Amino acid sequence: MAQTILIDPVSRIEGHAKITIYLDDRGEVSDARFHVTEFRGFERFCEGRPLAEMAGITARICGICPVSHLLASAKAGDAILAVTIPPAAEKLRRLMNLGQIVQSHALSFFHLSAPDLLLGFDSDPAQRNVFGLMAQQPDLARGGIRLRQFGQEIIEALGGKKIHPAWAVPGGVREALTNEARTRIHGRVAEARTTTINALALFKRYLDAHRDEVENFGNFTTLFMGMVGADGTWEHYDGELRIIDNGGAILERNIDPQHYFDSLGEAVEPWSYLKFPYYKPLGYPRGAYRVGPLARVNVCQTMGVALADAELREFRQRAGALPSSSFQYHYARLIEILAAIEKIEHLLADPDVLSNRLRAHAGINRLEGVGVSEAPRGTLFHHYQVDADGLITRVNLIIATGQNNYAMNQVVKQMAQRTIHASNGHGNGQGSNGQITEGMLNRVEAGIRAYDPCLSCSTHAVGQMPMKVAVVDARGDVIAEATRD
Ligand code: MG
Ligand code: NI
Repeated sequence: MAQTILIDPVSRIEGHAKITIYLDDRGEVSDARFHVTEFRGFERFCEGRPLAEMAGITARICGICPVSHLLASAKAGDAILAVTIPPAAEKLRRLMNLGQIVQSHALSFFHLSAPDLLLGFDSDPAQRNVFGLMAQQPDLARGGIRLRQFGQEIIEALGGKKIHPAWAVPGGVREALTNEARTRIHGRVAEARTTTINALALFKRYLDAHRDEVENFGNFTTLFMGMVGADGTWEHYDGELRIIDNGGAILERNIDPQHYFDSLGEAVEPWSYLKFPYYKPLGYPRGAYRVGPLARVNVCQTMGVALADAELREFRQRAGALPSSSFQYHYARLIEILAAIEKIEHLLADPDVLSNRLRAHAGINRLEGVGVSEAPRGTLFHHYQVDADGLITRVNLIIATGQNNYAMNQVVKQMAQRTIHASNGHGNGQGSNGQITEGMLNRVEAGIRAYDPCLSCSTHAVGQMPMKVAVVDARGDVIAEATRD
């Protein structure tokens, strides 16, 4: 009784990927895999290019996270020039990264995930998007759209409308904020803060009403890695890379970015083009770790700002000292938005953001350099080798989505095992007569959305490609399918 379900609503995932769910002969889920098709030519393509062009080239890897690549690339350039950038340049880079965190997290929460939570995983897929949210929760949806614009406005005020590819350069940045832009952005801070506080309140009501769903939404143990400041404060731009185990013990306090390859390896699975980074001393898969909002919030002692710290304390009271459910990525994302807004407000009050002492000039002083920063989705590494003329001889990039690859495979398997029961008599009430509903496939996909993967970064592909969820029975036939363009 082969059947095919094809659904084609608005996409709520960036880029292109496929989830395959395998059933055994009883119709129960035996395995599930998340794959992306990685285009590996990008790193090779950079060879022979001048170091100074790398920020611009890598910013075009991805239309979704150009800011993250721009900053990691500029930092790799700083290492090769062997310079300390001016304090004003560091503050401006921080300001831009905070703007990127706000806009990217707002997109993930309000546009991509809130429709599932507020309209329901099983609601009409044609309405289950930000437009449907607008009809039912207009204040929240409008606030979310404006919050994203707030982050984008900061990025544009610094980098220009289309992210000037050379705003951040090895040694610093090209331009400061204008006084007029500072005033304009400052004028939107209060509204951004209120939107985020309201979203947190609404989200906590959801948690209270869906304890079982939250606890069982891709809950598994891994290590966590994220950046912290010297005193264990949440950090997004520059600091120590800390790895903790699933009991919260610090395994490594300070991975030197210049020697990350001593601590981190990249495993290969025959069925996936995307590599699986892991913590070398534990091997793979024991050393698999997660990055991104939940990892950063789990590895830090404090957010370093008052409102977000109060939220962090409540988060730990509610979810435990070391939450491991993938659902908590949403919660951590909202706390990070709040922290970013508070930090943006502090930076705007700093006279350095208007300074014109912005760049250290130097030649090629090292033949190798690594730049690491926290992209919204997690830790991003740019590793370059150059010749004496500063031409690139080798590039390695490690992106957040790769580091969460292991976790994303775990989450789809757990979500599928919990949700999909294709055989008669094994239904869990969500579908009758062994029917596989669109709502079920949407729940599995929602596990991936919690990690907010950037498939454009993963594939190094230009433009968006579809996400496909397929259920394959024991004979290898596709019996259900959902595709989103
Ligand atoms: Mg690589
Ligand atoms: Ni990206």
